[in-house]
Amino acid sequence: MKNETGTTPKFKMKTSVHSEPALNELFFDGIRDLYWAENHLLKTLPKMIKAASSAALSKAIENHLKETEGHVARLETIFDIMGKEPIAKKCNAMEGLAKEGEEIIESTEAGTATRDVGIILASQKVEHYEIASYGGLLQLAATLGLTEVATLLEQTLEEEKAADLILTEVAEEGVNYQASEES
Ligand SMILES: [Fe+2]
Ligand SMILES: [Fe+2]
Repeated sequence: MKNETGTTPKFKMKTSVHSEPALNELFFDGIRDLYWAENHLLKTLPKMIKAASSAALSKAIENHLKETEGHVARLETIFDIMGKEPIAKKCNAMEGLAKEGEEIIESTEAGTATRDVGIILASQKVEHYEIASYGGLLQLAATLGLTEVATLLEQTLEEEKAADLILTEVAEEGVNYQASEES
């Protein structure tokens, strides 16, 4: 099956539009949860950028901060498509992950590669939470026959996966080694 852009979507589409109120509600809850999570990241990512020493790490998080603005905008488009108000639902998981990141900054010395390693570890936990959430909701959107919504979720999912890979590269290409040399 081809989508509007002529490419084959990677998710399995249901052929008939299926409306299951409880499942729809569960799906919508997940979108509201992500809306809170992404908005929370707009506040926490600048703290990570400020605390990072590695130029490559700062750049990676700065780029992802810009992408995160796009993630919020995509979720707002999804609310619009679904005819719902863009109302966030507090995401306890993201609140906890962001707190962990802040604790790492507090417990490590400024200007060290060790702090950078901690920031990478915390950031990758955030990316994996997002990958799990977008991946699951993408499949559910497909099941519910929400083609346009599924396409938007897939676009963000790909950016989350790419951000995770870039963080791995930053760790492998120097930060981990530099930290291992610190006494
Ligand atoms: Fe995101
Ligand atoms: Fe992300």
